[in-house]
Formats: sequence, C-alpha cells, structure tokens
Amino acid sequence: MIIGKPFLTTREIQSKVKELAQQISRDYEGKKLLAVGILKGSFMFFSDIVRSIEVPLTLDFIIASSYLKSETSGEVKIYYDIREDVSDKHVLLIDDIVDTGITLNHIRERVLARGPVSLRVCTFLDKKERREVDIPLEYVGYVIPNEFVVGYGLDYDNKYRNLPYISSFRKKT
Ligand code: IMP
Ligand code: MG
Repeated sequence: MIIGKPFLTTREIQSKVKELAQQISRDYEGKKLLAVGILKGSFMFFSDIVRSIEVPLTLDFIIASSYLKSETSGEVKIYYDIREDVSDKHVLLIDDIVDTGITLNHIRERVLARGPVSLRVCTFLDKKERREVDIPLEYVGYVIPNEFVVGYGLDYDNKYRNLPYISSFRKKT
C-alpha cells in the first residue's frame, strides 16, 4: 500500500478550517449552537473547527459506521448517539467527508426526528460526483474528485487517521 502525493497540506487545511469557522461564527451569532462531531472520521476536523468558532457552543458526538451490503444499499449502525436535548438548539453536524451521502442522510433523518430548532451540515470534504442521496450541505471545505484519500481523520482500514495532512491513497498492485 502506498501513500500518494499530499493532497492537502496542513497549512491548506488550517486556513480552510479558519474560513469555515468564521462563516459559522457569523451565522450562529446569538443562537444556541450544538456542534455534533460524527466519529471517528471527524475527530481531528471537529477539534480544530470548534477551537476556531467564536460563538458559545455545547458539543456532543455521534459514532456511526456504514457498510455496503451491495453497491446500492447501505446500512448504518449507530454506536453512540447525542445525549443532549436538541429541542432548544441549532444543531450543526460536523463530518469529515460525504461520499454517497448514505451515512449522513441516515444521521440527518435521525436528528431531525428529535426536533432541533434547526439542522445544518458542515463537511470538510465533499466527493460530489459519488453522491447517491441528495443532502443539503451548508458548509463545505473542499469539493474533491473521486479519489480515495487518507489522513486528517480519514482512514483506510482504520489506519492513517493521525496524519496531519490529507494524501491520496492507492493499494499497491
Ligand atoms: P457515505 O455514506 O458513502 O457518504 O460514506 C461516508 C464515509 O465513507 C465517510 O465517513 C468515510 O468513513 C468513508 N469514506 C468515503 N470516502 C473516503 C475516502 O476517500 N477516504 C476515507 N474514507 C472515506
Ligand atoms: Mg471510514
């Protein structure tokens, strides 16, 4: 297995995080914000972005994992869910990457059923061309081509999540 060329450097990542955080800080001024990190993938992005958001917030997590039974049907398993009451809060879901959209769509529906004041999504990466379920994404770091990437929380077989940059990744043949 080989790690390809850096796809996004630590500097590029940090400046995009700042930009997203500024936008979020403006939009949630005076609102009760609950930032929800979708684990495991978003752990690094989440901890970076909440440190740059300048409005008061509470935070929680959802631990989810998806697996494909076939090319088209995805199953999503939830291992930990939000424990805070969302009925008086503006929920912002924070994710690392949206690919087919199946995982996030499932999570979105689940949170919406609990009646938050509002619900928005912030994802660092968006693999737009792979989308199977249309979901509104209010804050997007980078739209990327259909290429497998690792680092900055993203894994291959649970590895490489700790890299402070994002690399393209190919299995050695
Ligand atoms: P979706 O349900 O197809 O949108 O899947 C999203 C999940 O797939 C992400 O949270 C990642 O765990 C994983 N994923 C999709 N593309 C990549 C990638 O390029 N690198 C690492 N994980 C990925
Ligand atoms: Mg993953």
